[in-house]
Amino acid sequence: MKYRYLGKSGLIVSELCFGAMSFGSQGSWKSVGALEQNAAQRVVDIAFEGGINFFDTADVYSYGQSEEILGKALKGKRSQVVLATKVRGRMSPEVNDAGLSRRHIIQSFENSLRRLGTDWIDLYIVHSFDFRTPLEETLSTLNDLVHQGKVRYLGCSNFFAWQLMKALAISEKHDFEKFVSLQAYYSLIARDVEIELVPLCEDQGLGLTPWSPLSGGFLTGKYPRGSRGPQDARRSKEEQNFLQFDEDRAYRILDEVKRIAKERGVSAAQVSLNYLLRKPAVSSVLIGATKPEQVVDNLKTVEWELTEEEIKALDSVSEPPRVYPKWMLDVTRLDRENLQAKL
Ligand SMILES: NC(=O)c1ccc[n+]([C@@H]2O[C@H](COP(=O)([O-])OP(=O)(O)OC[C@H]3O[C@@H](n4cnc5c(N)ncnc54)[C@H](OP(=O)(O)O)[C@@H]3O)[C@@H](O)[C@H]2O)c1
Repeated sequence: MKYRYLGKSGLIVSELCFGAMSFGSQGSWKSVGALEQNAAQRVVDIAFEGGINFFDTADVYSYGQSEEILGKALKGKRSQVVLATKVRGRMSPEVNDAGLSRRHIIQSFENSLRRLGTDWIDLYIVHSFDFRTPLEETLSTLNDLVHQGKVRYLGCSNFFAWQLMKALAISEKHDFEKFVSLQAYYSLIARDVEIELVPLCEDQGLGLTPWSPLSGGFLTGKYPRGSRGPQDARRSKEEQNFLQFDEDRAYRILDEVKRIAKERGVSAAQVSLNYLLRKPAVSSVLIGATKPEQVVDNLKTVEWELTEEEIKALDSVSEPPRVYPKWMLDVTRLDRENLQAKL
Protein backbone atom coordinates (compact mmCIF):
# COMPACT_ATOMS: atom_id res chain seq x y z
CA MET A 1 0.00 0.00 0.00
CA LYS A 2 1.08 3.57 -0.62
CA TYR A 3 0.02 6.57 1.45
CA ARG A 4 -0.69 10.19 0.55
CA TYR A 5 -1.48 13.42 2.35
CA LEU A 6 -5.18 14.28 2.28
CA GLY A 7 -4.94 17.47 0.23
CA LYS A 8 -2.77 20.02 1.95
CA SER A 9 -3.71 18.76 5.42
CA GLY A 10 -1.18 16.90 7.57
CA LEU A 11 -3.33 13.75 7.58
CA ILE A 12 -1.89 10.68 5.86
CA VAL A 13 -4.28 8.21 4.25
CA SER A 14 -3.87 5.06 2.19
CA GLU A 15 -4.36 5.70 -1.52
CA LEU A 16 -7.33 3.34 -1.40
CA CYS A 17 -10.11 4.06 1.09
CA PHE A 18 -12.57 1.31 2.01
CA GLY A 19 -16.19 2.44 1.65
CA ALA A 20 -18.77 0.67 3.83
CA MET A 21 -21.90 1.56 1.83
CA SER A 22 -22.52 -2.17 1.22
CA PHE A 23 -22.90 -2.89 4.97
CA GLY A 24 -26.41 -3.35 6.40
CA SER A 25 -29.75 -4.00 4.81
CA GLN A 26 -32.30 -1.41 5.88
CA GLY A 27 -34.62 0.01 3.24
CA SER A 28 -33.48 0.23 -0.37
CA TRP A 29 -29.83 0.16 0.82
CA LYS A 30 -30.04 -3.64 0.96
CA SER A 31 -29.57 -3.80 -2.82
CA VAL A 32 -26.08 -2.21 -2.47
CA GLY A 33 -24.77 -5.31 -0.74
CA ALA A 34 -26.59 -6.13 2.52
CA LEU A 35 -23.42 -7.39 4.20
CA GLU A 36 -24.05 -8.43 7.79
CA GLN A 37 -21.44 -8.44 10.57
CA ASN A 38 -19.47 -11.60 9.69
CA ALA A 39 -19.24 -10.84 5.97
CA ALA A 40 -18.33 -7.22 6.73
CA GLN A 41 -15.63 -8.33 9.17
CA ARG A 42 -14.00 -10.42 6.43
CA VAL A 43 -13.77 -7.58 3.91
CA VAL A 44 -12.62 -5.06 6.54
CA ASP A 45 -9.88 -7.46 7.71
CA ILE A 46 -8.64 -7.98 4.14
CA ALA A 47 -8.63 -4.22 3.52
CA PHE A 48 -6.78 -3.51 6.79
CA GLU A 49 -4.24 -6.29 6.28
CA GLY A 50 -3.70 -4.95 2.75
CA GLY A 51 -2.59 -1.63 4.29
CA ILE A 52 -5.82 0.38 4.04
CA ASN A 53 -5.99 2.80 6.98
CA PHE A 54 -8.87 4.93 5.64
CA PHE A 55 -12.52 3.83 6.12
CA ASP A 56 -15.63 5.68 4.98
CA THR A 57 -19.27 5.38 5.95
CA ALA A 58 -22.31 7.65 6.44
CA ASP A 59 -25.17 8.00 8.90
CA VAL A 60 -27.64 7.33 6.10
CA TYR A 61 -26.11 4.06 4.79
CA SER A 62 -28.70 1.47 5.80
CA TYR A 63 -29.95 4.11 8.24
CA GLY A 64 -27.16 3.68 10.76
CA GLN A 65 -26.47 -0.03 10.29
CA SER A 66 -23.35 0.57 8.20
CA GLU A 67 -21.85 2.69 10.99
CA GLU A 68 -22.73 0.07 13.60
CA ILE A 69 -21.24 -2.78 11.58
CA LEU A 70 -18.10 -0.83 10.62
CA GLY A 71 -17.57 0.31 14.22
CA LYS A 72 -17.65 -3.31 15.43
CA ALA A 73 -15.47 -4.53 12.56
CA LEU A 74 -12.81 -1.95 13.47
CA LYS A 75 -12.83 -2.81 17.18
CA GLY A 76 -9.28 -2.84 18.51
CA LYS A 77 -7.99 -0.98 15.45
CA ARG A 78 -9.52 2.44 16.10
CA SER A 79 -6.24 4.24 16.84
CA GLN A 80 -4.69 2.88 13.62
CA VAL A 81 -7.42 4.01 11.23
CA VAL A 82 -8.70 7.25 9.79
CA LEU A 83 -12.47 7.07 10.14
CA ALA A 84 -14.81 9.16 8.00
CA THR A 85 -18.57 9.48 8.27
CA LYS A 86 -21.16 11.84 6.82
CA VAL A 87 -24.21 13.90 7.68
CA ARG A 88 -26.99 15.42 5.59
CA GLY A 89 -29.35 12.59 4.54
CA ARG A 90 -32.80 12.06 5.99
CA MET A 91 -32.67 9.72 8.99
CA SER A 92 -36.38 9.63 9.97
CA PRO A 93 -39.71 11.26 9.00
CA GLU A 94 -39.26 13.86 11.78
CA VAL A 95 -39.10 17.26 10.03
CA ASN A 96 -35.70 18.25 11.41
CA ASP A 97 -34.02 14.90 10.90
CA ALA A 98 -32.21 15.84 7.67
CA GLY A 99 -30.05 18.61 6.26
CA LEU A 100 -27.18 20.70 7.54
CA SER A 101 -28.90 22.77 10.23
CA ARG A 102 -27.10 23.16 13.58
CA ARG A 103 -29.78 21.00 15.17
CA HIS A 104 -29.50 18.12 12.72
CA ILE A 105 -25.70 18.11 12.52
CA ILE A 106 -25.30 17.88 16.31
CA GLN A 107 -28.01 15.25 16.68
CA SER A 108 -26.69 13.15 13.81
CA PHE A 109 -23.07 13.52 14.96
CA GLU A 110 -23.87 12.21 18.44
CA ASN A 111 -25.75 9.27 16.96
CA SER A 112 -22.82 8.51 14.63
CA LEU A 113 -20.36 8.45 17.56
CA ARG A 114 -22.60 6.07 19.48
CA ARG A 115 -23.13 3.73 16.51
CA LEU A 116 -19.44 3.71 15.57
CA GLY A 117 -18.43 3.15 19.21
CA THR A 118 -15.87 5.96 19.16
CA ASP A 119 -15.23 9.32 20.86
CA TRP A 120 -14.04 11.11 17.76
CA ILE A 121 -14.37 11.24 13.97
CA ASP A 122 -11.23 11.82 11.91
CA LEU A 123 -12.97 13.21 8.84
CA TYR A 124 -16.53 14.52 9.17
CA ILE A 125 -18.10 15.02 5.77
CA VAL A 126 -21.21 16.92 4.74
CA HIS A 127 -22.84 14.48 2.33
CA SER A 128 -24.20 17.06 -0.09
CA PHE A 129 -25.10 20.74 -0.24
CA ASP A 130 -28.15 21.92 1.74
CA PHE A 131 -29.92 24.61 -0.28
CA ARG A 132 -31.97 25.77 2.73
CA THR A 133 -29.47 26.19 5.58
CA PRO A 134 -27.15 29.22 5.52
CA LEU A 135 -23.55 28.07 5.03
CA GLU A 136 -22.55 30.17 8.07
CA GLU A 137 -24.80 28.03 10.30
CA THR A 138 -23.37 24.76 8.94
CA LEU A 139 -19.74 25.87 8.96
CA SER A 140 -19.83 27.38 12.46
CA THR A 141 -21.36 24.15 13.81
CA LEU A 142 -18.68 22.04 12.11
CA ASN A 143 -16.02 24.42 13.43
CA ASP A 144 -17.34 23.94 16.98
CA LEU A 145 -17.11 20.15 16.63
CA VAL A 146 -13.44 20.47 15.68
CA HIS A 147 -12.68 22.86 18.55
CA GLN A 148 -14.52 20.64 21.04
CA GLY A 149 -12.04 17.90 20.09
CA LYS A 150 -14.72 15.64 18.61
CA VAL A 151 -13.73 15.97 14.94
CA ARG A 152 -10.22 16.17 13.49
CA TYR A 153 -10.85 17.30 9.87
CA LEU A 154 -13.80 18.45 7.78
CA GLY A 155 -14.76 17.34 4.29
CA CYS A 156 -17.60 17.84 1.86
CA SER A 157 -19.24 15.84 -0.89
CA ASN A 158 -21.51 16.53 -3.86
CA PHE A 159 -21.08 20.31 -4.12
CA PHE A 160 -21.06 22.55 -7.18
CA ALA A 161 -17.72 24.34 -7.52
CA TRP A 162 -19.29 27.72 -6.69
CA GLN A 163 -20.80 26.31 -3.49
CA LEU A 164 -17.50 24.83 -2.37
CA MET A 165 -15.57 28.03 -3.14
CA LYS A 166 -18.21 30.07 -1.29
CA ALA A 167 -17.92 27.75 1.73
CA LEU A 168 -14.12 28.07 1.73
CA ALA A 169 -14.38 31.87 1.54
CA ILE A 170 -16.86 32.00 4.44
CA SER A 171 -14.58 29.80 6.54
CA GLU A 172 -11.63 32.06 5.69
CA LYS A 173 -13.61 35.19 6.62
CA HIS A 174 -14.72 33.82 10.02
CA ASP A 175 -11.54 31.88 10.76
CA PHE A 176 -13.47 28.60 10.78
CA GLU A 177 -11.81 25.26 10.07
CA LYS A 178 -11.98 24.60 6.32
CA PHE A 179 -12.95 21.58 4.28
CA VAL A 180 -9.78 19.64 3.47
CA SER A 181 -11.34 17.13 1.08
CA LEU A 182 -14.02 16.69 -1.53
CA GLN A 183 -15.73 13.34 -2.09
CA ALA A 184 -17.16 13.34 -5.60
CA TYR A 185 -18.38 10.94 -8.28
CA TYR A 186 -15.42 10.32 -10.55
CA SER A 187 -14.76 7.38 -12.83
CA LEU A 188 -13.48 6.73 -16.34
CA ILE A 189 -17.01 7.11 -17.67
CA ALA A 190 -17.82 10.15 -15.47
CA ARG A 191 -15.08 12.76 -15.67
CA ASP A 192 -17.34 15.81 -15.16
CA VAL A 193 -15.39 16.81 -12.02
CA GLU A 194 -12.37 17.62 -14.17
CA ILE A 195 -14.13 20.69 -15.57
CA GLU A 196 -14.42 22.82 -12.42
CA LEU A 197 -14.00 20.77 -9.25
CA VAL A 198 -10.54 19.30 -9.93
CA PRO A 199 -8.99 22.72 -10.76
CA LEU A 200 -10.66 24.08 -7.60
CA CYS A 201 -9.22 21.26 -5.46
CA GLU A 202 -5.77 21.89 -6.94
CA ASP A 203 -6.00 25.65 -6.41
CA GLN A 204 -7.31 25.41 -2.85
CA GLY A 205 -5.37 22.31 -1.78
CA LEU A 206 -8.30 19.96 -1.17
CA GLY A 207 -7.77 16.21 -1.48
CA LEU A 208 -10.17 14.62 -3.94
CA THR A 209 -11.56 11.23 -2.92
CA PRO A 210 -13.53 9.74 -5.84
CA TRP A 211 -16.69 7.76 -5.01
CA SER A 212 -18.09 4.96 -7.19
CA PRO A 213 -14.80 4.76 -9.14
CA LEU A 214 -16.12 1.64 -10.94
CA SER A 215 -19.50 3.28 -11.62
CA GLY A 216 -21.21 0.81 -9.32
CA GLY A 217 -19.30 -2.16 -10.76
CA PHE A 218 -19.85 -1.39 -14.47
CA LEU A 219 -16.12 -0.83 -15.04
CA THR A 220 -15.27 -4.33 -13.83
CA GLY A 221 -16.63 -5.59 -17.17
CA LYS A 222 -19.13 -7.92 -15.49
CA TYR A 223 -22.11 -6.50 -17.41
CA PRO A 224 -21.75 -7.67 -21.03
CA ARG A 225 -23.48 -5.51 -23.67
CA GLY A 226 -27.24 -6.07 -23.67
CA SER A 227 -27.19 -8.17 -20.46
CA ARG A 228 -28.20 -7.38 -16.89
CA GLY A 229 -25.08 -9.04 -15.50
CA PRO A 230 -24.83 -11.42 -12.53
CA GLN A 231 -28.09 -11.69 -10.60
CA ASP A 232 -26.62 -10.71 -7.24
CA ALA A 233 -24.65 -7.74 -8.62
CA ARG A 234 -25.77 -4.19 -7.84
CA ARG A 235 -26.44 -2.93 -11.34
CA SER A 236 -28.72 -5.90 -12.04
CA LYS A 237 -31.16 -4.55 -9.47
CA GLU A 238 -33.61 -1.89 -10.65
CA GLU A 239 -33.40 0.34 -7.58
CA GLN A 240 -29.63 0.70 -7.86
CA ASN A 241 -29.45 2.02 -11.38
CA PHE A 242 -29.24 5.61 -10.23
CA LEU A 243 -25.85 6.10 -11.91
CA GLN A 244 -27.25 6.72 -15.38
CA PHE A 245 -24.96 7.03 -18.40
CA ASP A 246 -24.77 6.82 -22.17
CA GLU A 247 -24.24 3.07 -22.62
CA ASP A 248 -22.68 3.22 -26.12
CA ARG A 249 -20.02 5.62 -24.90
CA ALA A 250 -19.51 3.65 -21.66
CA TYR A 251 -19.00 0.35 -23.51
CA ARG A 252 -16.48 2.02 -25.87
CA ILE A 253 -14.51 3.13 -22.81
CA LEU A 254 -14.85 -0.29 -21.21
CA ASP A 255 -13.47 -1.94 -24.39
CA GLU A 256 -10.28 0.12 -24.01
CA VAL A 257 -10.08 -0.71 -20.29
CA LYS A 258 -10.43 -4.41 -21.12
CA ARG A 259 -7.80 -4.20 -23.89
CA ILE A 260 -5.26 -2.73 -21.46
CA ALA A 261 -6.26 -5.18 -18.72
CA LYS A 262 -5.74 -8.14 -21.06
CA GLU A 263 -2.36 -6.88 -22.27
CA ARG A 264 -1.14 -6.42 -18.70
CA GLY A 265 -2.78 -9.52 -17.22
CA VAL A 266 -4.73 -7.52 -14.61
CA SER A 267 -8.47 -7.00 -14.05
CA ALA A 268 -10.56 -4.24 -15.64
CA ALA A 269 -11.33 -3.01 -12.10
CA GLN A 270 -7.62 -2.56 -11.40
CA VAL A 271 -7.13 -0.57 -14.63
CA SER A 272 -10.09 1.70 -13.80
CA LEU A 273 -8.87 2.39 -10.24
CA ASN A 274 -5.27 2.87 -11.40
CA TYR A 275 -6.40 5.55 -13.86
CA LEU A 276 -7.92 7.66 -11.07
CA LEU A 277 -4.83 7.22 -8.88
CA ARG A 278 -2.78 8.92 -11.62
CA LYS A 279 -5.07 11.98 -11.80
CA PRO A 280 -4.38 15.43 -10.27
CA ALA A 281 -5.79 16.31 -6.83
CA VAL A 282 -6.72 12.69 -6.03
CA SER A 283 -5.63 11.68 -2.51
CA SER A 284 -7.44 8.37 -2.10
CA VAL A 285 -9.91 6.37 -4.20
CA LEU A 286 -12.92 4.85 -2.41
CA ILE A 287 -13.39 1.17 -3.09
CA GLY A 288 -16.63 -0.67 -2.37
CA ALA A 289 -17.10 -4.43 -2.21
CA THR A 290 -19.61 -7.15 -1.50
CA LYS A 291 -17.17 -10.08 -1.63
CA PRO A 292 -13.68 -10.73 -0.20
CA GLU A 293 -12.22 -11.54 -3.65
CA GLN A 294 -13.23 -8.06 -4.89
CA VAL A 295 -11.15 -6.40 -2.16
CA VAL A 296 -8.23 -8.71 -2.93
CA ASP A 297 -8.47 -7.78 -6.62
CA ASN A 298 -8.86 -4.03 -6.03
CA LEU A 299 -5.93 -3.91 -3.59
CA LYS A 300 -3.62 -5.16 -6.35
CA THR A 301 -4.01 -1.90 -8.27
CA VAL A 302 -1.45 -0.24 -5.98
CA GLU A 303 1.23 -2.72 -7.08
CA TRP A 304 1.65 -1.33 -10.60
CA GLU A 305 1.16 1.90 -12.61
CA LEU A 306 -0.39 2.64 -15.99
CA THR A 307 2.13 4.02 -18.50
CA GLU A 308 1.80 7.52 -19.97
CA GLU A 309 0.71 5.90 -23.24
CA GLU A 310 -2.01 3.85 -21.57
CA ILE A 311 -3.27 6.92 -19.71
CA LYS A 312 -3.39 8.88 -22.99
CA ALA A 313 -5.40 6.10 -24.64
CA LEU A 314 -7.87 6.08 -21.74
CA ASP A 315 -8.01 9.91 -21.64
CA SER A 316 -8.80 10.01 -25.31
CA VAL A 317 -11.58 7.39 -25.37
CA SER A 318 -13.23 8.87 -22.24
CA GLU A 319 -12.86 12.57 -23.01
CA PRO A 320 -15.77 14.45 -21.36
CA PRO A 321 -18.21 16.32 -23.61
CA ARG A 322 -17.14 19.88 -24.60
CA VAL A 323 -18.94 22.20 -22.22
CA TYR A 324 -18.94 25.98 -22.00
CA PRO A 325 -16.99 27.93 -20.70
CA LYS A 326 -14.24 25.29 -20.77
CA TRP A 327 -13.89 25.17 -24.56
CA MET A 328 -13.82 28.97 -24.76
CA LEU A 329 -11.22 29.31 -21.99
CA ASP A 330 -9.11 26.53 -23.51
CA VAL A 331 -8.81 28.79 -26.57
CA THR A 332 -8.45 32.19 -24.90
CA ARG A 333 -5.80 31.01 -22.39
CA LEU A 334 -3.40 30.26 -25.26
CA ASP A 335 -2.55 33.95 -25.87
CA ARG A 336 -1.22 34.14 -22.31
CA GLU A 337 0.55 30.79 -22.30
CA ASN A 338 2.34 31.06 -25.64
CA LEU A 339 5.14 33.46 -24.77
CA GLN A 340 6.09 33.95 -28.44
CA ALA A 341 3.50 36.62 -29.35
CA LYS A 342 1.88 36.30 -32.79
CA LEU A 343 -0.88 38.28 -34.50
N1 LIG B 1 -20.54 10.72 -1.19
C1 LIG B 1 -21.42 10.05 -1.90
O1 LIG B 1 -22.47 10.58 -2.31
C2 LIG B 1 -21.16 8.61 -2.21
C3 LIG B 1 -21.97 7.95 -3.16
C4 LIG B 1 -21.68 6.59 -3.43
C5 LIG B 1 -20.62 5.96 -2.78
N2 LIG B 1 -19.88 6.63 -1.84
C6 LIG B 1 -18.76 5.98 -1.13
O2 LIG B 1 -17.91 5.36 -2.08
C7 LIG B 1 -17.73 3.97 -1.77
C8 LIG B 1 -17.56 3.20 -3.04
O3 LIG B 1 -18.72 3.38 -3.86
P1 LIG B 1 -19.27 2.20 -4.75
O4 LIG B 1 -19.50 1.01 -3.91
O5 LIG B 1 -20.39 2.72 -5.56
O6 LIG B 1 -17.96 1.94 -5.66
P2 LIG B 1 -17.75 1.20 -7.05
O7 LIG B 1 -16.32 0.82 -7.05
O8 LIG B 1 -18.23 2.01 -8.19
O9 LIG B 1 -18.67 -0.10 -6.95
C9 LIG B 1 -18.38 -1.08 -6.02
C10 LIG B 1 -19.19 -2.33 -6.33
O10 LIG B 1 -18.71 -2.92 -7.55
C11 LIG B 1 -18.58 -4.34 -7.38
N3 LIG B 1 -17.13 -4.62 -7.38
C12 LIG B 1 -16.15 -3.92 -6.76
N4 LIG B 1 -14.93 -4.42 -7.04
C13 LIG B 1 -15.13 -5.45 -7.87
C14 LIG B 1 -14.25 -6.35 -8.52
N5 LIG B 1 -12.94 -6.27 -8.38
N6 LIG B 1 -14.80 -7.30 -9.32
C15 LIG B 1 -16.14 -7.40 -9.50
N7 LIG B 1 -17.02 -6.57 -8.91
C16 LIG B 1 -16.52 -5.60 -8.10
C17 LIG B 1 -19.27 -4.66 -6.05
O11 LIG B 1 -20.69 -4.71 -6.22
P3 LIG B 1 -21.50 -6.01 -6.70
O12 LIG B 1 -20.86 -7.21 -6.07
O13 LIG B 1 -22.90 -5.74 -6.25
O14 LIG B 1 -21.39 -6.03 -8.19
C18 LIG B 1 -19.00 -3.39 -5.26
O15 LIG B 1 -19.85 -3.21 -4.16
C19 LIG B 1 -19.00 3.63 -0.96
O16 LIG B 1 -18.81 2.49 -0.14
C20 LIG B 1 -19.19 4.88 -0.15
O17 LIG B 1 -18.31 4.86 0.96
C21 LIG B 1 -20.13 7.94 -1.56
